[in-house]
Amino acid sequence: MPLVTSKDMFKKAYEGHYAIGAFNVNNMEIVQGITEACKEEKAPVILQVSKGARAYANHTYLVKLVEAAVKECPDIPVVLHLDHGPDFETCKSCIDGGFTSVMIDASSKPFAENIEITKKVVEYAHDHGVVVEAELGSLAGIEDDVKVSAADSSYTRPEEVEEFVSKTGCDSLAIAIGTSHGAYKFTPEQCTRNEKGILVPPPLRFDILEEVMKRLPGFPIVLHGSSSVPQNFVEMINSHGGKMPNAIGVPEEQLRKAAELAVCKINIDSDLRLAMTGTIREFFDAHPDKFDPREYLKPARANIKELVRHKLRDVLGCAGKA
Ligand code: G3H
Ligand code: 13P
Ligand code: ZN
Repeated sequence: MPLVTSKDMFKKAYEGHYAIGAFNVNNMEIVQGITEACKEEKAPVILQVSKGARAYANHTYLVKLVEAAVKECPDIPVVLHLDHGPDFETCKSCIDGGFTSVMIDASSKPFAENIEITKKVVEYAHDHGVVVEAELGSLAGIEDDVKVSAADSSYTRPEEVEEFVSKTGCDSLAIAIGTSHGAYKFTPEQCTRNEKGILVPPPLRFDILEEVMKRLPGFPIVLHGSSSVPQNFVEMINSHGGKMPNAIGVPEEQLRKAAELAVCKINIDSDLRLAMTGTIREFFDAHPDKFDPREYLKPARANIKELVRHKLRDVLGCAGKA
């Protein structure tokens, strides 16, 4: 089937109490690892491309890689989405260039300006059969060249969501309830320790999510910054020359709970990066004489695939929903 929008996917996900995985893609091995997992698990998927990914790999290469995946996986619905579109021009370029979904991220702008920019993108996108994700509230962490400090991040204010959605006409809404981008989502000071001395992050603000749900019944909500930072990959990195102390993510049970509520799209990028980096570091340590990229990218792709299969089955709940 051709690329689809997320409209139907989100409706089914909302009603079925699961979420669609939105995985960031930057090269062929990542596209293959994700889509092979989705094919085997019969899961719908959102492949998302950031401004940085377009700068790294080139828009055309990424679209063609995704088109190749669609051809190889004819039975699963695939959305091609712009992640964190910074302005109207970038969104327009993706809408004109084959994407079926875009995010306009004007969350750092004042409320009225966020509405104005989002509305302009929605009008252009809807005229071209493309859906739009917008954001209210801002997450800490780094996206492309924008770094938001924890002090500057802010939770979504539920009292703003109805006006925002009705004035902009956006199709889904990303909210800030305590997640953040990257592999260091919580400082050790924000965490407690369990009996084994392992850091336990503070819970997400489900009270905010529930208030948003009450105000926007049936409306699809998006969670960014939803990597769980698997400790096996952090250890793999650290025991093969890496240095990522205190890397910590969102516990999987909390994402599962969010998926059962109104969260229909869960964004995961850092976990794929950790799987790829850990695998390649381990390979180089074991085989210092090897230099064929196929030899180290093959196990890296395989580990991305296994990680994504686990997410689809055990976290998102979207396995078998294609
Ligand atoms: O939201 C951030 C995503 O992980 C994309 O990261 O901007 O480095 O491509 P990037
Ligand atoms: P992570 O850094 O938690 O993987 O978040 C990715 C994301 O939100 C992409 O938009
Ligand atoms: Zn994000």
